[in-house]
Amino acid sequence: MVTGGSAGLGIEIVSALVVAGFDIVIIGRSQERLESAGEQLDAILRWSGRRVKLVVGDVSDQDCVNRIFADLQGEWGRLDVLVNCVGISDRGRVEDLTGPRVRELIDANVLSALYCSQAALPMLRASQGVVVNIGSLSSKVGARYLGGYSLAKHALAGLTQQMRLEWREYGVHVALINPGPIMRDDAGQRYAGAGGDLPDSARLPAGGAKLKGMPPQKVAQAVVRAVRKRSPDIILPGYLRLLVAIGHALPRLGDWLLLKFTSPRP
Ligand SMILES: NC(=O)c1ccc[n+]([C@@H]2O[C@H](COP(=O)([O-])OP(=O)(O)OC[C@H]3O[C@@H](n4cnc5c(N)ncnc54)[C@H](OP(=O)(O)O)[C@@H]3O)[C@@H](O)[C@H]2O)c1
Repeated sequence: MVTGGSAGLGIEIVSALVVAGFDIVIIGRSQERLESAGEQLDAILRWSGRRVKLVVGDVSDQDCVNRIFADLQGEWGRLDVLVNCVGISDRGRVEDLTGPRVRELIDANVLSALYCSQAALPMLRASQGVVVNIGSLSSKVGARYLGGYSLAKHALAGLTQQMRLEWREYGVHVALINPGPIMRDDAGQRYAGAGGDLPDSARLPAGGAKLKGMPPQKVAQAVVRAVRKRSPDIILPGYLRLLVAIGHALPRLGDWLLLKFTSPRP
């Protein structure tokens, strides 16, 4: 099951899991987007002989999630992997962040993963399966001008670790993937009008952090790796784990590095 598998990173994760030998259920809100994803996946499905089922639903709505998983239990009777990929990013200054916006971000980035994981748990216990949550570098560090994104992705990181520790005794593994900016056709345009008087660079991918966008296929491969090797936590690109570790051990140096590598460009 891949939530948000009808676009962006999600569709690459679906492709990688199909190649790895899984039948997939994709959840998204727009039927049209799901159908277009189905068309994009057609060749790989023919080649692999795997199945993809498209399900319209909103994963931030708990009743809807429970219905989808009950249907899946009835129809397929088995779930090995849940990838919680649905999430939205944000731009803005902390002083402009509103309660309703924070709730939207928590709904999309955290509650969606919580509801789906809870609903999937009985099937995952039976299969000794895996949950993969898609976090971000913003699950690991704060950065300027990202609105409520770091807040929501840090909450997802905390939830993921707690799930991993508690569900270990059920044989269910829970992983967090933390990608930096991902290459996409609309990179740099998504936040063009966002966030009032922010520096222009803050509207760029990763809020203007000095990082090259990585191919989504690389992130999708990390998901497959987390499933196969039961990796707990993957940061992409990998060398940034050092920056995160420095920031935790030496916060003053961590802040200095973050300010330097995310500084507004002229
Ligand atoms: N893009 C990046 O550079 C980047 C970097 C690091 C981490 N990430 C993380 O990677 C994940 C995917 O990001 P993306 O940029 O690839 O996303 P995206 O292109 O915006 O695609 C989001 C997908 O989720 C679906 N979706 C959104 N809300 C939903 C809901 N409530 N219920 C069901 N489906 C929903 C969308 O379809 P519908 O709209 O039809 O529902 C779409 O299929 C997110 O968690 C994001 O935080 C992204």
